[in-house]
Amino acid sequence: MELHDIQRGVLSPRPSPYAATYILFRIDDPAHGRELMRRCAAVVTSAADTASPLGETWVSVAVTCQGLKALGVPQEALDSMAWEFRQGMAARATALGDVGPSAPEHWDKPLGSLDVHVVLVALAPDEQRLEAALDRARPAYEQLTGITAIWRQDCYAPPTETEHFGYRDGISHPAVDGSGVAGSNPLEKPLAPGEFVLGYPDELGGTQTTRPEILGRNGSYVAFRKLHQDVAAFRRFLAGNSADDADRELLAAKMMGRWRSGAPLALAPERDDPVLGADRLRNNTFGYETDDPDGFVTPGACHIRRANPRDAVVAGEVRLHRMIRRGTAYGPLLPEGVLDDDGVERGLMFAFVGAHLGRQFEFAQTQWLNDGVFFGSGDARDPIAATGESPGDYVIPRRPLRRKLCDVPRFVTTRGGEYAFLPSLSALRWLADPTA
Ligand code: HEM
Repeated sequence: MELHDIQRGVLSPRPSPYAATYILFRIDDPAHGRELMRRCAAVVTSAADTASPLGETWVSVAVTCQGLKALGVPQEALDSMAWEFRQGMAARATALGDVGPSAPEHWDKPLGSLDVHVVLVALAPDEQRLEAALDRARPAYEQLTGITAIWRQDCYAPPTETEHFGYRDGISHPAVDGSGVAGSNPLEKPLAPGEFVLGYPDELGGTQTTRPEILGRNGSYVAFRKLHQDVAAFRRFLAGNSADDADRELLAAKMMGRWRSGAPLALAPERDDPVLGADRLRNNTFGYETDDPDGFVTPGACHIRRANPRDAVVAGEVRLHRMIRRGTAYGPLLPEGVLDDDGVERGLMFAFVGAHLGRQFEFAQTQWLNDGVFFGSGDARDPIAATGESPGDYVIPRRPLRRKLCDVPRFVTTRGGEYAFLPSLSALRWLADPTA
């Protein structure tokens, strides 16, 4: 793979802990937008770089379809991009299950609007260093009066590496053939590079290209979603459905497929094993089909088995629906033991990276998280990550009798999101002058 041309954020896992910020820009003057692209090309690091021109700060830049239009990218080029990308995430809301309180009319403004053009993500080891870097960068973009920063969301990876519900996150990621980045599950064969980056053969043997080729080659699609987490409701649900602390933790593990330490039920079926949870060499080395086809250990309906059924027999071909994830927490942690909502916004800035918005992100969201038919469980939804509607009943296979939890509440609400394209470094330079 041409690592020197691929943005670092696509393939390289993020360091931890870190502070990050999402800044959205609107382009009112194409010339200033192109100048922004030129300046971004100078500071974005590639997957081959070991140092950033910004010192301890690392930057990624993505552009929405509206953003490409605002930069003056010719219609023929736009038409050669994925149709989901051209529609934008808000237009896909009903299909994605972003209905009811998750519907676009309730999203944080301006998310989902035609004003979101450029998505800049900056990362630094801590908040102070991130803020100092942004202060240094501010004059450079404030000079460009034809672009406006319209939204900012600060987020962070806590030192505990957990998300708000208390589970260790950022464990499972696929290996990409030719990227030099190892996957976390040695039992999973590396995926073809064209699954994640345009311009390379994918698992079906096809290669996605755009017109002109430079726009798409070495670039990836991203889907970012601001997902509010109702931590107090989640805790009350666990407490209300368990006899004691040990039972509560078992229920939490049965809903996720991992104990909160990160230890997978598949390798620690009876009780948590925090040493295993923290061990990156062991905590993702497992499948489901041989030892647990019916989900007595890891329920078929739990979050991680839905999001990646691995070798389990399900309808469809699992390798066509894999994804690179970059999740980051926003908002303060709810103090331990608190069961009442404090009204403070907190959740996950979820980011998908891949070459196929439709058959990867949208498929996983609609068929795997928001439905249960693929593994024979009717319309039951993901008990952790279902948005919009209640997940329905949650069934935990158990002998002699299964355990059924009725009307599980919804713990996650979509606050907004967008589809964007992470161009290669040469495409960023091309975007600085797309009509040349
Ligand atoms: C607020 C909502 C969500 C929370 C709290 C959450 C939390 C987690 C956690 C704790 C893990 C296990 C750790 C790991 O493997 O890295 C995980 C795994 C995963 N999640 Fe989520 N997630 C959320 C939403 C989503 C969404 C919307 C998607 C996709 C559309 C998704 C896809 C995945 C995938 C693919 C895995 C890896 C599964 C595996 O390979 O075993 N998650 N998530």
